[in-house]
Amino acid sequence: MPTERDDVARSVVTAEADPTDMTEFAVLPKEAYTSEEYLAAENRRLFSMSWMFATFVRHVAKPGDVVPANIQGVPIFIVRDETGKLRAFHNVCSHRGSQLVCQPEQDRKTIVCPYHAWTYKLSGELSWTKHFAGVNATDLPDRQQNKLGLKEVAVAEWLDFVFVNFSAMPESFSDNIAELQDRWSDYDLSVMTYHTSLRYEFEANWKLIVENFLESYHVPFIHKTLNTYSPFSERYQIKLSDRLMGIGTGQYQPDSIHGMRLPSWPMRDKSEGTVKAEYFSVYPTFLVGVMPDHLFAWVLEPVGAGRTIEHLHFYFVGEEGAHAEEFAPHRTQTLENWKQVNDEDWDIIQRMHAGMQSPAFPHPLLSRHMERNVNGFQTLIRTHVGLPGPARTTLVS
Ligand code: FES
Ligand SMILES: [Fe+2]
Repeated sequence: MPTERDDVARSVVTAEADPTDMTEFAVLPKEAYTSEEYLAAENRRLFSMSWMFATFVRHVAKPGDVVPANIQGVPIFIVRDETGKLRAFHNVCSHRGSQLVCQPEQDRKTIVCPYHAWTYKLSGELSWTKHFAGVNATDLPDRQQNKLGLKEVAVAEWLDFVFVNFSAMPESFSDNIAELQDRWSDYDLSVMTYHTSLRYEFEANWKLIVENFLESYHVPFIHKTLNTYSPFSERYQIKLSDRLMGIGTGQYQPDSIHGMRLPSWPMRDKSEGTVKAEYFSVYPTFLVGVMPDHLFAWVLEPVGAGRTIEHLHFYFVGEEGAHAEEFAPHRTQTLENWKQVNDEDWDIIQRMHAGMQSPAFPHPLLSRHMERNVNGFQTLIRTHVGLPGPARTTLVS
């Protein structure tokens, strides 16, 4: 089966065969990054039809656990019902629209609206509407209550992450993630243990963050320290499917410069995974990476065409890796490393967004070798959201 390295080799051969080949590719014009109308179209056509991160499995681990979330302005809540089934609902009362859940709760048997106490089962059925038909009158008849239950949303769990999808006919989440699960099946990620989170606010469009994540072309110039322990020369692009693209590195060894060792993932194949790392964009707004001794999940929240909040969540291997005192300096160093990388990206991504405002910048240029996945990502956006205007750009060899 061809590998990503074969793909790189093939593209090099093609370029060598015809170095003057300047293939035209339609990608996204800069208006797709700068216009609020385009973000509104993304909300309608992309985010509301995609699997979006909502909360953590550990926060809804037990029956009766309830957690509110907000997906691009749409309030929902996630609940583990009495049978252990995870469910998600629109967070709005069928009576007059009050928000039902405003903070995480535990041991709930029902969801009670704070306004007039309409009561819903954890399965979403409306079960109590006393006084609606007059003081001390009985509840509405079942046939009416049955129509007034909560509106359910598709939900899926993977590792510690809960995703929801507003589409009435969502694509299967497990099908979407299957190639990545398969690729990482050697790692026993069941022992991943949450440690901490960081938060960044970017004055930049969310797609620039994904695109930056999908290429290593910038690594030797922007991330000089990262390049010493995860060198550019060892990096390769991976495309598992249209929705699962990423970067791999055959060498990820911060311990080579810091002399530190954290517990590493239990592996089925001991020869793999000790020094390599892989990062994937799980289309559209979830970024996940596995390193020899930790895992990260970065969630993008596009709040404006030129403003994005990024939540960075870090996990280590088992209780020991995440909490043991003896590894505290090692964890701190790992987080410092990522903070440095993200500070560097934060700066350059914002510069890119600012530069895009220039009338002298017509459209991006992409390298057919180094930015193939950026082109793949833009193509998917174009397919799902459309183009804000005419766009032709050149993929430069
Ligand atoms: S709005 Fe919920 S019971 Fe009235
Ligand atoms: Fe970067």
